[in-house]
Amino acid sequence: MGLAAVILAAGKGTRMKSAKAKVLHPVAGRPMLSFVLDAAAGAGAEKIIVVAGHGAAEVVAAVGGRAEVVLQEEQLGTAHALLQAEAALKTYAGDILVLPGDAPLLRGETLRDFYTYYRAQGAPAAVLTARFADPAGYGRVIRDQDGNVLRIVEHRDATEEELSVSEVNTGIYCFKPAIFSVLKRISPDNSQKEYYLPDAIRLLREEGVSVAAWEAPDAAEFLGVNDRRQLAVAEEVIRRRVVESLMDAGVTVVDPRATYVHPGVVVGPDTVIYPFTFLEGETVIGSECCIGPWTRITDSRLGDKVAVHNAVVLGATVADGAAIGPFSYLRPGTVIGPGAKVGGFVEVKKSVIGEGSKVPHLSYIGDAEIGRSVNVGAGTITCNYDGRRKWPTVIEDGAFIGSNTNLVAPVRVGKGAYIGAGSTITRDVPAGALGIARSRQRNIPDWVKKKGRE
Ligand code: UD1
Ligand code: CA
Repeated sequence: MGLAAVILAAGKGTRMKSAKAKVLHPVAGRPMLSFVLDAAAGAGAEKIIVVAGHGAAEVVAAVGGRAEVVLQEEQLGTAHALLQAEAALKTYAGDILVLPGDAPLLRGETLRDFYTYYRAQGAPAAVLTARFADPAGYGRVIRDQDGNVLRIVEHRDATEEELSVSEVNTGIYCFKPAIFSVLKRISPDNSQKEYYLPDAIRLLREEGVSVAAWEAPDAAEFLGVNDRRQLAVAEEVIRRRVVESLMDAGVTVVDPRATYVHPGVVVGPDTVIYPFTFLEGETVIGSECCIGPWTRITDSRLGDKVAVHNAVVLGATVADGAAIGPFSYLRPGTVIGPGAKVGGFVEVKKSVIGEGSKVPHLSYIGDAEIGRSVNVGAGTITCNYDGRRKWPTVIEDGAFIGSNTNLVAPVRVGKGAYIGAGSTITRDVPAGALGIARSRQRNIPDWVKKKGRE
């Protein structure tokens, strides 16, 4: 017997007050829905169906082939949403796990425990419940005196007495395919005039069918994100989980609450992360690095013993022992060699800086290839753009670029060559030569006196 998961993700999310479909709002850099897809896969679902409606095209893109997407053209309620999966499950005889698309904190293991419980109970339906300190907004689970679930009542349809119940519906259920015929009997007689999926529980009970209910040990992972406040809560929980797993892997995080790491980022042991650091996307950082404070690293790869302070590093590769910052900006396609240094107010775009080379102060390096042991003086600029296209600059091993040099590309500075400070270099400089391109200094003796400016 197999397990299929159906994720309900068609709703608009009116309370988000957004043009974007609710399930696409990012938590820790990824759409909420992708966390639910992970949880469904973690639960062991062999087939996953996403019910999309609002922003369906974007939802399909976010799903990216990880699930089959079916359409709910009009959002008439959660029961109606599940019904849209009927055709996709026509020949399916296994169990069906229903998940809300707006619950990014769900864990696969918890869903697996719930499914194991469902199998053991042998009931045709089961609902996953949790006890919330503040159950406001959630459907309440109403049980009889023997503890059997009778029905679920939505917050806005509940009586005063029902509102005092703290056990809530998490929106997670297990069913047999026979549920589809039950869904067709649900009517929208409630305050929202919607077809409520929780009504399936009441209908089954009224027909004398038993419904199992499993109260999860930890309520925290069933947060439904309906508004931006809950989005921020989800963000905080995911952030803590990710940072704690880094700490478990041997990373020092000086202030976990002020460290923002996307899931999937890899950091090696004995690396220290200082506050206000953002590590995002497909980033891999080696061991014994020193990262932050005030640093953003996105889609980049850093070796071991790298130091990055107050810097923005996007799509770059930084080798072992290199030092970046403070106030450096590495842009995509940049490769920094072992032990190299990029210092204050230096921007590097799509360039290679070789082993042990230094660009310590106030420079723009774009479309350049810099060899080993090169010293680039303060204020050096590669003039890589002529107004039409970009041109390359090559600086060979051991060259010394004097301060405040303009290198007008395309141009090449040969091995070991020197450039005089303040030069605008428009032609290649041969290896071992001095390139100097500035007007000679003239001193006018006694000029101040003659001008009467004493
Ligand atoms: C729902 C439950 C509530 C439960 C809570 C748990 C119902 C009627 N209520 O309330 O008992 O405590 O979740 O978080 O089910 N959706 C569709 N199509 C629709 C309507 C909704 O796909 O026509 C999707 C939404 O995109 C969302 C999910 O179903 O991902 C839940 O809908 P939502 O409107 O958030 O329900 P709640 O009011 O939170
Ligand atoms: Ca919800």
